[in-house]
Amino acid sequence: MLPALARAVVGRGTETSVIPARRASRAEAASMTLEQLMDCLPAATLALNETRQPCVISPEAHRQFKDCVGSIIRHPAFQNRLDHVLADLSDSPAPGEAVVVLDIPQYRVVRAWMRKATVPSALVPEGYRKPGFSPTTPTTLIFVALHDETEAVVAERQHTDFVAFASHELRTPLAALLGFIETLQGPAADDPAAQKEFLDIMAVQARRMQRLLDSLLYLSRVQMQEHLRPTDVVAVGALFDHVRAEAAGLMAGKNVRLEVTPGAEPGLSVAGDEVQLQQVLMNLIENALKYGLADRGRRQGQPLCITLSCEPPPPDGCWPGEPGVLLNVTDTGPGIPARHLSRLTERFYRVARTAASVQGSGLGLAIVQHVVTRHGGRFVVESAVGKGTTCRIWLPVVRGLS
Ligand SMILES: Nc1ncnc2c1ncn2[C@@H]1O[C@H](COP(=O)(O)OP(=O)(O)OP(=O)(O)O)[C@@H](O)[C@H]1O
Ligand SMILES: [Mg+2]
Repeated sequence: MLPALARAVVGRGTETSVIPARRASRAEAASMTLEQLMDCLPAATLALNETRQPCVISPEAHRQFKDCVGSIIRHPAFQNRLDHVLADLSDSPAPGEAVVVLDIPQYRVVRAWMRKATVPSALVPEGYRKPGFSPTTPTTLIFVALHDETEAVVAERQHTDFVAFASHELRTPLAALLGFIETLQGPAADDPAAQKEFLDIMAVQARRMQRLLDSLLYLSRVQMQEHLRPTDVVAVGALFDHVRAEAAGLMAGKNVRLEVTPGAEPGLSVAGDEVQLQQVLMNLIENALKYGLADRGRRQGQPLCITLSCEPPPPDGCWPGEPGVLLNVTDTGPGIPARHLSRLTERFYRVARTAASVQGSGLGLAIVQHVVTRHGGRFVVESAVGKGTTCRIWLPVVRGLS
């Protein structure tokens, strides 16, 4: 598959070339170094010398792979393929291809194409040359093109997981329903007490299936609209009032305190779909409530505190530069271990530690993520185990209304 590299090289022209090819004089072009040539490549490429050291790393490889380049080169899958490429002593050595899977610092799947080439030793940067260097003798370099396939692999995995989880989640209550129907038709046909008990359980299972299907349909509707930016103007104050009223129904009779602080700027508005934004905030409050209440042992009678707040984003570089606002839902619940945070918005992802005793299908935060994406916003979950969780939604504000 080396043609991908070739395509990239001849395809889109230069972005970072030190000496742009068209304007370079003959003399300049003749004296270009390997680094300068590789700077011109709009692809993530490396050149390794005979001792497998990366003597040139293109700017695109730096940008995409930063400090992973060393881990990719050291990876057994890469080294194995490199052994074959180096061992090929024919006149036109065959290219090699390796797939490298890294787990730390984050999961990444990188495909590497490599080809051995004989070049004048003078091309090899100083510090990477063989002992007894002579500019006229040829030397071997291995050119490597890297392609990040993480997104495609994760999407494929999520698709497979989705089908498996959806059918599993539906099959369990369905099997329970069929079992009870058989019992009602047979052994319990003349037992009114058992019939009542079984019908109650069947109603719970049927509602579970209904909730799951509702969430799946809602999610697929949101995904279908994801490319359509909502244009209605939604006042944050009115949005919070609605959510407070709806949340009050969920919290009635429970040991919970809800604080709503709509922020200092009256009339602050965002461009959005009001019903979807209400749904998103309710999903977050419902999570805060159900996981917080399930963790009651730790609070020793203290009420669970949930805060819905609105604030300007801090200027810490984490948020987009355009004018925006943060809508936060904070709770004093059990918190979520850091290793789960990046996966919470995957469909059906649940954290066994907190979710084991609480009903849910793992779709709530996937819905939040898709709605926020549709709004051109950003969704971040911060959490500390034993302290609580803050879910932050950044949304662009509509100016000139207040
Ligand atoms: N505020 C929170 N405190 C502790 N854990 C949380 C909190 N919010 C989410 N989680 C964890 O994240 C997981 C994913 O949440 P999500 O809302 O997507 O699904 P769910 O609540 O399990 O099901 P659903 O929302 O579809 O009914 C939960 O199962 C739970 O483990
Ligand atoms: Mg939820």
